[in-house]
Amino acid sequence: MTKRRPLIAGNWKMHLDVASAAALAREVANKVSRARHCDIAVMPPHPLIPAVARVLDGSPIGYGAQDISAEEEGAFTGEVSARMLLSLGCTYAIVGHSERREYHLESDVLVHAKTVMALKAGLIPVVCVGEKLAERKAEKTLHRIRTQVETALKGLDDSVGRVVLAYEPIWAIGTGLTATPAQAEEVHEFIRGVVDSMYGAQVAEKIRILYGGSVKPDNASALMSEKDVDGALVGGASLTAESFAGIVNYGD
Ligand code: 13P
Repeated sequence: MTKRRPLIAGNWKMHLDVASAAALAREVANKVSRARHCDIAVMPPHPLIPAVARVLDGSPIGYGAQDISAEEEGAFTGEVSARMLLSLGCTYAIVGHSERREYHLESDVLVHAKTVMALKAGLIPVVCVGEKLAERKAEKTLHRIRTQVETALKGLDDSVGRVVLAYEPIWAIGTGLTATPAQAEEVHEFIRGVVDSMYGAQVAEKIRILYGGSVKPDNASALMSEKDVDGALVGGASLTAESFAGIVNYGD
């Protein structure tokens, strides 16, 4: 069985400014650059990426964007293209975060188009899926997740192996309510099964599935010890170097 290399990524959401983002990147680099057991990345808001890049280029910490346009270029006011992000040195782009789905009405179909665009450009899409609390209560979690994963990954070529998936139950985001390790594992294992049914066991074994939703230093280790949890997408706790480092060093 392939050993998947974990990825711990910080989604900074709409926080910080040029100076504080550069300072946070510097502190994160100081605290986690020696970690060898996982890939590490931060996702600043678009305008702060160059300031973060200046600090992190040459370090083992990658960076990426929180969203990309599904379009290559053109009259799309306010949009940011994959090519622009690549030219800033980005490795990753979050796609289909639940806050984009909820506040910007992004559909499963749009998330698919963005995934295709990221892969085509050479970025690693971090494709987010997750159910609402009402869906969990109605026992529709797995149905919802299957639709999201199948639509996002539909008809991809060999580059599908580069996709990173992130299971982020919406009820656990920013609420302090974390999925238990068993709840997370149930969905992660299910997602891997969906990928297996679409692309076969080799791809399914290789693809990384991160967990996101109130990950903190004190719950990271238990979540990460589940067999299908291959890292974390961290919101609030990625905004201080101390707590982010506490998550990165979950095995210590
Ligand atoms: P929190 O860690 O703040 O719950 O956010 C999770 C998230 O949305 C990461 O993308």
